[in-house]
Amino acid sequence: MTQSRERVVYQPAGRRVRLDPDKTLLELATMAGVGIEASCGGKGTCGACRVKVDGEATAPDHSEVESLGTFAGEGFRLACRARPRRGLTVWVPEESRRHQQVILTTGDRLEVPVDSAVPARGLGADSDGPLLGLAVDLGTTTVVAYLHELRSGAALAVETAMNPQVAHGDDLISRLAFGSSDRNGRETLTRLARQCVNALARRACRTAGVGPERIFHCVLVGNTAMHHIFLGLDLAGLTRAPFQPTACDAREVPAAALGLEMAPEAFVTTLPLKAGFVGADAVAVALALGADGVTEPTLIADLGTNGELILATPGAMVCCSTAAGPAFEGGHITWGMRAAPGAVDGVELPSVDLPPRLSVIGGRAPLGICGSGLVAAVHALLHRGVLGPQGRFAGDVSGPWVRRGPEGPEFVLADAAHSGTGRDLVLTRRDVSELQLAKGAVHAGVALMMAELGLDSVARVLLAGAFGNYLDPVDACGIGLFPGVTPERVRGVGNAAGAGAILALLNRGHTERAGKIAQDMRYLELAGDPRFGPAYAKGLLFPAGSAASAP
Ligand code: FES
Repeated sequence: MTQSRERVVYQPAGRRVRLDPDKTLLELATMAGVGIEASCGGKGTCGACRVKVDGEATAPDHSEVESLGTFAGEGFRLACRARPRRGLTVWVPEESRRHQQVILTTGDRLEVPVDSAVPARGLGADSDGPLLGLAVDLGTTTVVAYLHELRSGAALAVETAMNPQVAHGDDLISRLAFGSSDRNGRETLTRLARQCVNALARRACRTAGVGPERIFHCVLVGNTAMHHIFLGLDLAGLTRAPFQPTACDAREVPAAALGLEMAPEAFVTTLPLKAGFVGADAVAVALALGADGVTEPTLIADLGTNGELILATPGAMVCCSTAAGPAFEGGHITWGMRAAPGAVDGVELPSVDLPPRLSVIGGRAPLGICGSGLVAAVHALLHRGVLGPQGRFAGDVSGPWVRRGPEGPEFVLADAAHSGTGRDLVLTRRDVSELQLAKGAVHAGVALMMAELGLDSVARVLLAGAFGNYLDPVDACGIGLFPGVTPERVRGVGNAAGAGAILALLNRGHTERAGKIAQDMRYLELAGDPRFGPAYAKGLLFPAGSAASAP
């Protein structure tokens, strides 16, 4: 039987798992690596597994309503009782999360011995108030802040925001162009980044019922551009080859000097970075996922417009960045969009004569297709023989869903009557080419790193970041994204950069470890490497139809 393409999404962790209507939301949470309190072991009597459900689940029975008490009727359910009917979102409130001081990284739960730099320096010792710390993942598109108590390590709040700099360029290149146009441009971006961190800190503190003046330490990670912008460093080196950072070292700066509204003696630590396109976020990912202590060859990939790749073996780490282009984020695709409500994020094609089955974020009529949907669609088309290894539509395939459009052959994802736009949502040959460019770049980067370490296979692939979290391993392998990897070796690991920042916040030993990782990790410069061109050309090809595994 074909498994459902619909997903259950657990927030705020952002973890996803395939819908299985026979499993409870508690069982599915375990499969997704999300810890929910279950004091009674799932008997429905303790009420500790209370979650808020956004979507269609089985109806609560009398005993569940009784156990929920005043929460019944507000969308709350017992995770151990409710089963999903359709794809839905489960919000796990702070009080229902298991072991708040535990950081979720690789899907395994890791205990973090708390040894913060703050009590060690005697900061805040003159009062009985909480000692707070803020870990910040400053991304090009989104910013996430995690508020923790630094004696216990307890997680108090997680807040997210769109990066307000998007008003000055959606992608990194246009952002850098604005920031390096003149001094005002860079100062504007710097001010916006710091204001955003302040706003998130205030919100997190409000959630936790404390004041931001109790924050004594902030650990910030981000890609090299975000890191430089936040610290107010010169961006010129990042705008032209060889894309040299102004500084790579870990830094400690008084929070007040950066305009952060925290305790007067608070300080900010930025983790080290490796290169122009391998930033402190990549180092944080390597830290969280234990790249420096793997027992088998492990590929860590954070895929976006710029793919950051790390290959670790026992005793060696190599990294590179590869310009994948915007396809993984839905850019340059006819009906492309970010992974937001209304985006097609999964596609199944039972037959070329039947309408495709779509998974749509938020369960609404489709508005467009995001990166993971694009990968799924192309995989389905390869599997059905509609597309060939070169990415061309096969000439002999035609029907209501594969037809000739104004630009040549096209695949109809949803017709006008079923789309949320009132127009046909289609995938064209040009869209497939955009995905090939992204795939070719990643494939080539991985192939060259494997050659560097003398490997002909990797034991596991860990996908960090938003796209990796949404990407179905079966689809990733179905389009041949990574050389010689099968789906069971691939898994999403959520926001590992944020997890790395939290590790460094809670334990000063991890800050030192981050420095060692940045030092020991070898950087492979792909630009100008004569092996890159042939590897890229090879990477553009999809597996042949029979080799494209079943979706
Ligand atoms: S685990 Fe106790 S009520 Fe659900």
